Amino acid sequence: MTNINSVKVSPALLNSSCAWSSNLRDLQELYDSPYTGAITTRTATLSGFEENESHTAVLGGSNTSALNSYGYSPHPLAEYLVWVRQILERSEADKPIVISITSSTPDGLRSMVTSIQDLRKEIGDTSRSPSRIAIELNTSCPNIRNASPSGYSFKSLHPLLQVLSEEFSADKTLTIGLKMPPYVYREQFTDALEVLATLSIQPESDTTSSSAISPISFLTCTNTLGNSLLFSHQIPTSPNTLGEFALPTVVGGLSGDSIHPLSLGNVYTFSQLLRGPEARFPTLSNIRIIGVGGVTSKQARERMLGVGADAVACATLLGKEGVRAFEILSTSA
Ligand SMILES: Cc1cc2nc3c(=O)[nH]c(=O)nc-3n(C[C@H](O)[C@H](O)[C@H](O)COP(=O)(O)O)c2cc1C
Repeated sequence: MTNINSVKVSPALLNSSCAWSSNLRDLQELYDSPYTGAITTRTATLSGFEENESHTAVLGGSNTSALNSYGYSPHPLAEYLVWVRQILERSEADKPIVISITSSTPDGLRSMVTSIQDLRKEIGDTSRSPSRIAIELNTSCPNIRNASPSGYSFKSLHPLLQVLSEEFSADKTLTIGLKMPPYVYREQFTDALEVLATLSIQPESDTTSSSAISPISFLTCTNTLGNSLLFSHQIPTSPNTLGEFALPTVVGGLSGDSIHPLSLGNVYTFSQLLRGPEARFPTLSNIRIIGVGGVTSKQARERMLGVGADAVACATLLGKEGVRAFEILSTSA
């Protein structure tokens, strides 16, 4: 069990945002699993994302890995809000739903957060303890043409983070996280935390700087590793329709076992910088880490916890096994 600001994740296991958490049926099935302590929607935009046959995923190789060229969900945020309301109104459980969203403009993001907050108020989530709705801003989809993942140029995220910070200041029950790209050198981590530290908020009741907290309550590490390539012959069940390369876009986001060491390293480094002996961001100590990337066995889940994750999530294993994935991560030897 882990508490992340106003939400409780128990057990500390959930799906990370993906093509297999796209529609009401997917989400209801994930929510009904006794092995998930929270669920995450696929990333929604304000108006929906135009999908075509170039957007796809292949499960491949000798291990549990995947390569995908998906962008964001074709379903707009408004549709997810209807589904989230339906799921929560049918249940008394404390299990939260993380609504994954993205926007390239501050105005677009504010409008999305406002409609999520309107839903939270309408269903009493702002006064409920624990809350059951959280937000994850996806800063790290590698598959959007002409729009590099903003998480790789963290300073450019400041206008969007400012919006999130203002929304958190107005309602501290709002639990907000960031979906992070996989980083490969140390300054990427410290640059991100330096930007987050500038947003720290002082509770009204207390004016000592030591009590300031981050409006960002969690980091989900990591998204897929962009610009990766598999040949069709590397996909065991390759349909004949595939050309030389496994993806129509040739390159896409790599996930599953193939990125596990990198994701572990990302969780470890953030954890050390936030609360290890070398921690130097006291106002960020409230940030929790959701470890994602190659969690395909109970041992991999334990490794994530061992390097500092407060909760663990998976996508590729969900694509391979369906919701049974969470039972595998909970009970397999
Ligand atoms: C087919 C597919 C679609 C995905 N779609 C999203 C998405 O919409 N939003 C997001 O934040 N991450 C998305 N991801 C990334 C996953 O949430 C996760 O970060 C990544 O796959 C690593 O975890 P895994 O090894 O358990 O798959 C997607 C991953 C896959 C495989």
